[in-house]
Amino acid sequence: MVGEPVNLNEFQELARQALPKMYYDFYAGGAEDQYTLEENMEAFRRIMIRPRVLVDVSRIDLSTYVLGYNISAPILIAPTSLHKLAHPEGEVVTARAAAACKTIMALSFTSSCTLEEVASSCNAVRFFQIYVYKRRDLSALLVQRAERNGYKALVLTADSPRVGRKEADIKNKMTLPKLKNTERLLSLEASSDNGSNLAAVAKETKDASFCWKDIEWLSTITNMPILIKGLLTREDAIKAVKVGVAGIVVSNHGGRQLDYAPATITVLEEVVQAVGGRIPVFFDGGVRRGTDVFKALALGAQAVLIGRPVIYGLAAKGEYGVRQVIQMLKDELELTMALSGCPSVKDITRRHVRTELERLH
Ligand code: FNR
Repeated sequence: MVGEPVNLNEFQELARQALPKMYYDFYAGGAEDQYTLEENMEAFRRIMIRPRVLVDVSRIDLSTYVLGYNISAPILIAPTSLHKLAHPEGEVVTARAAAACKTIMALSFTSSCTLEEVASSCNAVRFFQIYVYKRRDLSALLVQRAERNGYKALVLTADSPRVGRKEADIKNKMTLPKLKNTERLLSLEASSDNGSNLAAVAKETKDASFCWKDIEWLSTITNMPILIKGLLTREDAIKAVKVGVAGIVVSNHGGRQLDYAPATITVLEEVVQAVGGRIPVFFDGGVRRGTDVFKALALGAQAVLIGRPVIYGLAAKGEYGVRQVIQMLKDELELTMALSGCPSVKDITRRHVRTELERLH
């Protein structure tokens, strides 16, 4: 028994106790050997902070801007699917917590509430994440609905032409509930002989031929800025800048897609350098501590997104839990900044961290 949680990792244990095993495994799991899942967190432990002392840290300002929106801290909510498996009201509750914390929520394409329900439930700045379907007309419809309902950016997830093999889901015979956003438009009845239909549904619906040149199509059907989520290399970062997207999210989908993809924090700087300040770079994967947020910012991220901890907060304690998760991370970041001599987010620089490579040299 954990008792009152004092950090994000303890929320994971509370969620494990609160959820049926099938759902907990779905949220917590990663692909195949789960190497990338674990490395996402481990790699942070190999980065040291280089604190500066005797700086006036009597006031710490965590606030920052993301695509022009002022938020209370550089911590956003990542798009994660199916929040109703964690809480009866699903994403509506998560969105309310985002608003209360004055941060941005990226709503998953595969949410359990409709994008309209989420839009009308809170006044948080919202982004909409999208996978492109083989039925381009359906994708276009969704994009238009998101824009009409006040979503401020489109997050195109690029690392999932197919769904990664999550063996716990196969063992548990995890099947996809009805997807609300496309419920009346598309039937998702793919079955699979391995017990779970998650991969089969995705294979049947998603357009695995979608590639760089199709981003142009996407930008012709919306005025929302487009962020590409799921890049891990300098080569792709250069392409992203070239096609004119508004930003990048360095992400390996929380270790749920390609196992043995590198931990995101180990490739963040490569992407940041390739982009050269032309567009903002965001980051997700394994952020569990304020020190992790600090390290990602020092390596060039403008803000981080958190995935699983938000779901764990939601499962354990509903809206209050999500707020607690975000508040804990903010409090830890604030303390880290104070102890490192950084009174504001823009004071966090590359000189404030030492990577493993630098240590070895
Ligand atoms: C995800 N993620 C994800 N990403 C996305 O673009 N669309 C989606 O629908 C989902 N769904 C989803 C479900 C679950 C249960 C998880 C855990 C993750 C990936 C997510 O946006 C993010 O990249 C990772 O969660 C970040 O890693 P952490 O914070 O969970 O370690």
